[in-house]
Amino acid sequence: MASETLRQRHREFNSTAVAPESQKPAGDGEKETELGNKTPGSKRSLTIAIAGVLALLGVTGYSFMRQPSGVPAVAVTTVAAPTETALQSVATKRGNAQKRLEGMTKVERRKEVNRLPIFTDDEVDAVLRANEKSWQAINGALRIDTDQVSSNEPIEDYLATGDIHGGSRYMVGVFDGHAGFMCAEQLAARMQPMIDAALQEIEGINKTISAPLSDAVVRLQRDVGRGWDTVPMALTAAFMAMDNELVHASLAEYQRLADPSQMSRLLGPAVSGSCGLVALVDTDANEVVVANTGDSRALLGVRLANGTWKAVRLSQDHTAENQNELSRLAREHPGETVIRSGRILGGLMPTRAFGDSRYKWPIGVQRALFPQLLANGHKYATSPPDLLSPPYVTAHPVIVRHKLGKGDRFIVVASDGLYDQMADADVVQVVAQWYEARDPASGLVTKDKNAATHLIRAALSTDGNGNRRDEIIRYMLAIPPPVSRRYRDDISVAVITLNEAN
Ligand SMILES: *[C@@H]1O[C@H](CO)[C@@H](O)[C@H](O)[C@H]1NC(C)=O
Ligand SMILES: *[C@@H]1O[C@H](CO)[C@@H](O)[C@H](O)[C@H]1NC(C)=O
Repeated sequence: MASETLRQRHREFNSTAVAPESQKPAGDGEKETELGNKTPGSKRSLTIAIAGVLALLGVTGYSFMRQPSGVPAVAVTTVAAPTETALQSVATKRGNAQKRLEGMTKVERRKEVNRLPIFTDDEVDAVLRANEKSWQAINGALRIDTDQVSSNEPIEDYLATGDIHGGSRYMVGVFDGHAGFMCAEQLAARMQPMIDAALQEIEGINKTISAPLSDAVVRLQRDVGRGWDTVPMALTAAFMAMDNELVHASLAEYQRLADPSQMSRLLGPAVSGSCGLVALVDTDANEVVVANTGDSRALLGVRLANGTWKAVRLSQDHTAENQNELSRLAREHPGETVIRSGRILGGLMPTRAFGDSRYKWPIGVQRALFPQLLANGHKYATSPPDLLSPPYVTAHPVIVRHKLGKGDRFIVVASDGLYDQMADADVVQVVAQWYEARDPASGLVTKDKNAATHLIRAALSTDGNGNRRDEIIRYMLAIPPPVSRRYRDDISVAVITLNEAN
């Protein structure tokens, strides 16, 4: 498994869990289109990806230390790792399917996809469970379940979880990359330490942090005043500083070094892009603060007094469907038609994002650098048409703060790959049923010991009419990358179970 493409998709910091490494299959970057040149994604074989999945066998499993007190009764069970046989037959079937679809026109492919052998239940389980994890945080006050299923190859979604300064704060972040994985990878690796440092800076504990972070904190304190609470300010400062480091500080460093061999390392994250959402739960303050840039989404599952469930959004999507975003763009770029075909300058779906320097760097910088970047294989290093007044895209997050109440039972944090398949109310209902199924008297059954896996299984089993059938996921998962990207996106899910005593 000594492959440079194997990356850690899920970063955990100071948590009580295993931290496996892997990557998985799939395709055709759709969040950022290459204008006028919409080629299918790489035709790389699955061998490397599956090596990653197999490598996981040694570390996969259920890491669950202790039953959290007051959490809805969840059995502590060990789930068998996916059998090697099932993972191998997944690799073989996908490899064969890729060969069959290669070189076909779009129309031919659509027909052929319907003739591919679908997966068995064992193969479905192997794919769904290869990345699932579960653990406790904040001394058992929280339970975290995560899972990821890829469509892009390599996957462009990352999760990052970990303790945050203060003793009772825990963060769960999802970073949904586009136009490559490099930006999302950096965010997953650096966001938790950045938030940690921002909080300490604001609380006056440590002043020895990076210049972009100090700048962001100073600017926020000046602009918004010291009355702004520490956690929202720290999250905002960390998001702004991260983007500043990835897009501007790295550019300055590259220009200073004038060393072409450093191009990909320093500028690669800037020419790809990523959405980012961080939910920070504070079990002492009994609150959750969500910072969001892009179109990932956080949902709160609320159990009402009469036993029914309600979904409450803890973030707003930043897309062309968001009226606030349309107003902001019109205000910042008077006289320009920024949104075309529902995308920023016809290319980018989210209206806020990290990286994406083609919508941020000054025109002169783009002209000077993009030809070399293109020549080095960065295929998104091209200026969008009608680029008049960058920046068009910001990483500035919108903050939602929520005091946790009696009925607030869980938070779902997920990339848009989940919400493409399911409505908010359905997501909350499915997770609620996963809890209820633990009570034998409920008469409900679940195949999964992990709430996130259960949710992804439901998402990929749902047909266009909201009905769920096993055949649908057996079909959906059998479609190989890169064609799979036309049917489903990378899906990353974290379910945070809140203490029932809240
Ligand atoms: C302050 O930050 C520096 C560098 O990150 C670290 O080495 C040091 O331990 C920190 N000091 C405190 C008091 O946290
Ligand atoms: C439960 O309560 C909510 C809010 O109070 C209400 O909207 C809903 O109709 C009730 N459902 C049932 C089945 O009683």
